[in-house]
Amino acid sequence: MTAHVRILDTTLRDGEQSPGATMAAAEKREVARALARLGVDVIEAGFPAASADDLAAVRAIAAEVGRDGAPGSSHGPPIICALARAARRDIAQAWDGVRAAARPRIHTFLATSDLHLQHKLRMTRGEVLARVAEMVGYARSLCDDVEFSAEDAARSDPEFLCAVLGAALRAGATTLNIPDTVGYTTPDEFGALIAHVRARVPGIDGAVLSVHCHDDLGLATANTLAGLAAGARQAEVTINGIGERAGNSSLEEVVMAIHTRAGKLGLATGIDTTQLISASRLVSMVTGIAVPPNKAVVGGNAFAHESGIHQDGMLKHESTYEIMRPETVGADRTRLVLGKHSGRAALAARLAEIGAPVSGEALDRVFARFKALTDRKKQVTDADLEVLVSDERPASDAEVALEGMQVSCGTLGMPTATVRLRWPDGTICMRAAVGTGPVDASYKAIDAIVGDLAGSAGQLVEYAVHAVTEGIDALGHVTVRVREAAAGGIAAHSDAPRPRVFHGAGADTDIIVASARAYLRALSRMLAARGQLSEDRTATAEPGRASRDRADQRSEGSTEYGGVR
Ligand code: KIV
Ligand code: ZN
Repeated sequence: MTAHVRILDTTLRDGEQSPGATMAAAEKREVARALARLGVDVIEAGFPAASADDLAAVRAIAAEVGRDGAPGSSHGPPIICALARAARRDIAQAWDGVRAAARPRIHTFLATSDLHLQHKLRMTRGEVLARVAEMVGYARSLCDDVEFSAEDAARSDPEFLCAVLGAALRAGATTLNIPDTVGYTTPDEFGALIAHVRARVPGIDGAVLSVHCHDDLGLATANTLAGLAAGARQAEVTINGIGERAGNSSLEEVVMAIHTRAGKLGLATGIDTTQLISASRLVSMVTGIAVPPNKAVVGGNAFAHESGIHQDGMLKHESTYEIMRPETVGADRTRLVLGKHSGRAALAARLAEIGAPVSGEALDRVFARFKALTDRKKQVTDADLEVLVSDERPASDAEVALEGMQVSCGTLGMPTATVRLRWPDGTICMRAAVGTGPVDASYKAIDAIVGDLAGSAGQLVEYAVHAVTEGIDALGHVTVRVREAAAGGIAAHSDAPRPRVFHGAGADTDIIVASARAYLRALSRMLAARGQLSEDRTATAEPGRASRDRADQRSEGSTEYGGVR
C-alpha cells in the first residue's frame, strides 16, 4: 500500500526569509503559478501580519492561483495558506489574506520548548496551553482548515509537546506540524519523536501530522524522510531548499527520494517531477540565490558524468551511474526549440507551453530580445527563453531602466563606461566613469546617477556570472546583491536596524550589459523599498539630494567623465 504525502511548499514564506531573497508581488504570483503547475498540495503564500505588501501578495495569490479553473494546475486549485502568530490580529489578517481561495488555510504557531518559553515568550507552560486552545479555536471559527505548529518542537519536552498538540487538536486544528526549527535533531531521534506523538496524543489520527525541518546540520531531508517513515503525512519544504539561515528541507530532494525509492518508502506525492528544474530556475532567478552545481536533483552537475570510468559505464548502461533520468526532473529541456525564422506567434505558443505565458507589450519586448538573440546564438533553448522572460519581470512596481550603454576596455587604456538610464518618472540621465574593469566602470557610472537622483547607492556585496546553456554564445546570467548603506555609518550602535540586502539578476549575451541590468534591478528594489521610486521623485527627496532641476540639466547629452565617486 502506498501512502500519499501532502507537499506544503513554503518558498514564499520561510523561503522568502532567506537574507536578501525578498520577491516583488509579480514574482510571488509567478512562483505561486509554478507551484500550482508542479502540483503542490498547499502553497504557504506568506505572513500577512508582517507587512501590507505581504497581505496584498497573499490576497492576490488566493484570488488568482487558489481559485477553481486557475491557470496552471490540472489538479484543481492548491490549498492557499497564510502564517500567523498565535495572536488574534495576526490570525484575522491571515484569514483576510486567504479567504478568497477555494481552499483556504490558516497556519498559526507558538513555541513549545522551555528555551523559547523562558527567553523569548516569557510565558509559563500553562499560559502556552491556554493560548494555543484559544487561538486555534479562534482560527477555526474563521476557517475550516487550520494548521497548528509547535515551534522548536524538536527541542521541546515530548510530554509537554503532546499536551499542546492535544489542546490544538481539541480546539479544532486539522493539521499538526512538528518543526525542527533550528535544524538540531537527527533522523532516528526525529522519527522517534513523531512515533511518540502518534502514540501519545489521543485522537491524533483525525488530523494530518506534518514535518518541517531546517538544514543547519545538513540533515533536513533525512529528518523529513524519517518523520514520514514514522507516520507524518505532510512535508513542509521549499524549492532549492531556500529559507531561514541554512534553509529548509528541499522540495526536489524530498520528492525525488520518495519517487526514486517508492518501493522502500511506500510513499507517493502528487508532484509533476518534470517541472522540478524549471521551478528551481524560476526561484533562483527571482530570489537571486544561485543553485550550487552539485546540488542534488537540480544542480548543473546533477546529471553530468566526468570520470572516464563513469562515462564508460553510462555508455554501456545508464543505470550503472544514474539513479534517476534527467527527463524525469525536466533536465532535458535545453534542446533547440526556436530559431532565427520563428515568428512572434511561435514564440508566444512556446512560452505558454513552458509555463511562462507573455502577451501584449511584454511579448513585443521579449520577441525583440529573442530576435536579437537568434542573431548571436544559433540554438535558442527553453532555458534561454525562461531567462529572457524572467528578465522582463519587474523587480518592483517601478524600475530604473537601462536605456543604453557603451564600454571601452582592454589593455591599452582605462576601462570606461557610459551609461544612460531612464527613471520611472521619465527622467533620462547619462554619466560616464572610469573603473578597474568594464563592470566596475559601468557600476560607478550607475552609482553616480543614483547618487545624484536618490542620495546614495548601495554597497555591492556579491557578484556572480553564470552561463545559461553551454557554448561560447550562451546567454550570460548575472546575479548581484547590494547592501544599503546603514544610516550613520555601518554598525553605528548595536541596536540600529540591520542594513537590508537586495538582489538583482540580468541576462544578455554581453555580460557587461547583463551585469548592468542585474545591478539596476537590485538598486531598483532598494530604492522602491525606501519609497524613492514614486512618480514624483521630489516628493520623496532626502535632504541634500540633487533636485529634479539639476537632474534635468544632466539629461541627454550632458556627459561627465571620471572621478564620479
Ligand atoms: O521553523 C519553524 O518553526 C517555522 C514555523 C513557523 C512553522 O517556520
Ligand atoms: Zn521554518
